[in-house]
Amino acid sequence: MTHSKKHALIVGASRGLGLGLAETFLRRGWRVTATRRGAAPGLEPLTAQGVRVEAVDIDDDASVTALHERLAGERFDLIFVVAGIVLESDQPLHAVSRAVHAQIFLTNAVSPLLFAEAFRDRLAPGSTLAFMSSVLGSVGRNTEGGWENYRASKAALNTNARSFAARHAARDFGVLLLHPGWVATDMGGEGADLDVATSAAGLADVIEARAGRTDLAFLDYRGETLPW
Ligand SMILES: NC(=O)c1ccc[n+]([C@@H]2O[C@H](COP(=O)([O-])OP(=O)(O)OC[C@H]3O[C@@H](n4cnc5c(N)ncnc54)[C@H](OP(=O)(O)O)[C@@H]3O)[C@@H](O)[C@H]2O)c1
Repeated sequence: MTHSKKHALIVGASRGLGLGLAETFLRRGWRVTATRRGAAPGLEPLTAQGVRVEAVDIDDDASVTALHERLAGERFDLIFVVAGIVLESDQPLHAVSRAVHAQIFLTNAVSPLLFAEAFRDRLAPGSTLAFMSSVLGSVGRNTEGGWENYRASKAALNTNARSFAARHAARDFGVLLLHPGWVATDMGGEGADLDVATSAAGLADVIEARAGRTDLAFLDYRGETLPW
């Protein structure tokens, strides 16, 4: 069966921005495959609207391999690795255990790239590989400190994505590091600047406007370039 609709794979869509992006792309007429790693009641209404829901834990190689096999034959116009964590990120570096530093680094900076490496053969020509970064990952903008382990993990995500882009310089897809703004989710908290729908709409605009490009960029949800 062939599909004329664009197809998005949203990784980490059980809640928050990933769920909002799944809803946004669905409303824009895309086919959407959305992943959860555990229970995801927020995704249930979307299955009735045609969203395919799959399970994956990006920290688990066997889980990523199994998803890759289940999605054999699928081609994506967008793969967006949204999944990320904060762990004791209100604490300074020296107050956090080595185990916590290791976990946040693996989930935020390493697992997204391992996922990308596994799934790059599923990207259609002219498609987009996106990673959810943060302005806190900008080394140049780090004048005030704070959020130390999270900030470092997103800076490392950016660096690892740049290395991926260089390793695959002859690729036929674009690579985006995206900052969603400060968004009211479980992670962003209640005092955030933006609601999920506004951020997701901005991110989707940025992605749709760059369709067909194969370069690398670090952009916010309004399309503005951020300093590395
Ligand atoms: N909110 C903000 O203001 C803000 C700002 C800048 C950047 N970001 C980034 O945006 C992304 C989404 O954040 P959010 O605010 O929507 O956070 P959230 O509400 O806490 O949602 C995080 C999502 O990531 C998933 N996830 C975490 N670890 C995973 C793993 N190992 N495998 C698969 N899925 C995993 C979670 O799944 P479970 O439900 O199973 O836990 C959940 O779906 C993150 O990368 C975050 O760093 C957020």
